[in-house]
Order: sequence, then C-alpha cells, then structure tokens
Amino acid sequence: MLVGELTASPAPTILLPPMLEETVQILANDRDSDLYFRLVVRAPRVAPLVQPGQFAHVRVLPMKATLLRRPFSIFQVAGDTFSILYKAVGQGTEVLSRMPPGEELSVIGPLGRGFTVPQPGAETPLLVAGGYGMAAMYLLAQRSPQRGIVFVGGRRRVDILCEDEFRALGWQVRVATEDGSHGEMGLVTQPLLAELRRGTDGKKLFACGPTPMLKAVGKIADEFQLPAELSMDEHMCCGVGVCLTCVIPVKAGDGWEYQRTCTEGPVFDSRQVAWEVEK
Ligand SMILES: Cc1cc2nc3c(=O)[nH]c(=O)nc-3n(C[C@H](O)[C@H](O)[C@H](O)COP(=O)(O)OP(=O)(O)OC[C@H]3O[C@@H](n4cnc5c(N)ncnc54)[C@H](O)[C@@H]3O)c2cc1C
Ligand code: FES
Repeated sequence: MLVGELTASPAPTILLPPMLEETVQILANDRDSDLYFRLVVRAPRVAPLVQPGQFAHVRVLPMKATLLRRPFSIFQVAGDTFSILYKAVGQGTEVLSRMPPGEELSVIGPLGRGFTVPQPGAETPLLVAGGYGMAAMYLLAQRSPQRGIVFVGGRRRVDILCEDEFRALGWQVRVATEDGSHGEMGLVTQPLLAELRRGTDGKKLFACGPTPMLKAVGKIADEFQLPAELSMDEHMCCGVGVCLTCVIPVKAGDGWEYQRTCTEGPVFDSRQVAWEVEK
C-alpha cells in the first residue's frame, strides 16, 4: 500500500488472535444508570479467549432489516460468560436494550489487539477513561499484577460508570465531571496532570474514550515522555479487516499509512498515531 494513500490493493497480512462466531444467549440485560445497560451473555467458546481491550462484534438478531453488527468492548468475563456495558445511543443499542434474558444474539469475538497487560513488578498503570471507555479498562485492571490509579471522566454524574468495581479491585479512582456533579469539576486530564506533576517514575498510561480525550492523553504522554496505549474506537462495519471503514493514519517510516482499528487496533501505541493527518 502506498504510504498516505488508501487504495484497493490487498490489505497487509497480519496474524490475528483467535476469534469465533457464536450464537449466544442473553442471561441479563439490566439498566445500570440513565442510558447505560449491562448485558451478560453465555458464550462458552468466546469468553475464555478474551484479552483486555478486545471487543465483540454483536449482531442484534431482531433487527432483520440490517446485517450490520455493532462493536462493544468486552467488559467482564466470568467462566463461560462475558458482559458488555453499553449506552443506548441509536437504533441498534435501543433495540438491544429491550431484549430480555433468554433471547439470542450473534457474536464474533474476541476481536482486535487489546492492551498489553503489565508484567509483574514493571510499570505502574494509570488508566484514563471517558464514559463507556471504562468498559474497555476493567479486564486490564483485574489482570494487571500492579494496582494503579483509574482516572474517569464524563459530562455528568450518570456518565461515571462502575467506579466501585474498580475500587473493589484495589485501584484508586479519581473522578472528574464537566458539570461538577461528581468528583472534580472539569476534564479527566486535570487530575491526571496533577498526578504526573507529582512524579512520573515507572508510570504508563492506558486510555479509552472519545477521540479528543485520547488526543489529549497522547499529548500528555509526549510532554512527560511516558509510554501510552490508546484504544481508538472508530466507526466499524465488518470488524474483521475487510471494509476499511475504521482506518486511522499511523506513522510509518518518514510518512504515514492507514491502519485498520479493528485488526491492527483498536489499541495503538500513542507514538504511532499520526494526529496531524486529517482522516
Ligand atoms: C472497538 C469499539 C468498542 C466500543 N465499545 C463500546 C462499549 O463498550 N460501550 C458502548 O456503549 N459503546 C461502545 N462502542 C460504540 C458502539 O459501537 C456504538 O455506540 C454503537 O455501534 C451504536 O449503535 P446504534 O445502532 O445504537 O447507533 P447508530 O444508530 O449506528 O448511531 C447512533 C449514534 O452513535 C454514534 N456511533 C455509532 N458508532 C459509534 C462509535 N463506534 N463510536 C462512537 N459513536 C458511535 C453515531 O455517530 C450516532 O451519533 C464501541 C465502539 C468501538 C469501535
Ligand atoms: S471495520 Fe471493516 S476493516 Fe475495520
């Protein structure tokens, strides 16, 4: 592929982690708060394969008019079940939010390259999440041998999800809301900057949330010369590397090239992302 050009030439071959298509049964689908829901499914083939930061591509079977799947981070795994934490924002998630236990969904997963789980005794992880970005972080927090700090931000109190579950894992949680209804008033990067100004030794950033937040975290990582992994949640169609809907510009040699967030990502080293290139 020509650097900086999206062409119809064959996509580069990469080794994908194992993934499966499975028809799964809904065990629970309950409102968490406001427009947020938790869906638990029995998925004996997919659940054991999940790595932190990977996602499931879900086909909402009652939506007969559309074959398009919706991508969701895998939030928690327990035995042969996994859950997602989702916000009802449009047609697919609205139909999903009305599906009762016992109904079935089609799932392809686990998909994508997730976060690098810290090695024992290595870096201190600082997780930065905006809104449903918390969902992508839970397995990382659970499987990390080191406990660190989770910085979570949202517009309002209702956008701050599963704070207590991170505390129960032994993590510190620092909250910021834009309207000041919970935690510090302002953006999530404020408490993060305050923490980094106290010292940066051995710290590594992991982030998932809206693109402006990821861009800000990438800039902070540059400024403090810290490693950072960012989960780039772009709009996706196929989810498996075929349609090129989900590409982002990534640095390559002296230039840049497009890479697919569904297969090369969604998690990228922040130094790889070519923010200066308009998509
Ligand atoms: C890798 C990945 C992980 C994700 N994880 C989660 C998660 O854990 N929880 C969760 O609630 N959502 C998550 N999303 C976003 C989720 O896929 C969309 O909210 C969902 O597809 C919307 O479907 P819909 O049919 O309800 O909305 P549509 O009717 O398709 O769209 C409604 C609105 O949602 C916006 N939207 C659609 N797709 C996305 C997207 N990818 N990112 C941001 N906005 C979008 C549209 O622009 C539109 O404004 C994730 C997306 C990706 C790519
Ligand atoms: S969503 Fe089709 S290539 Fe990524």
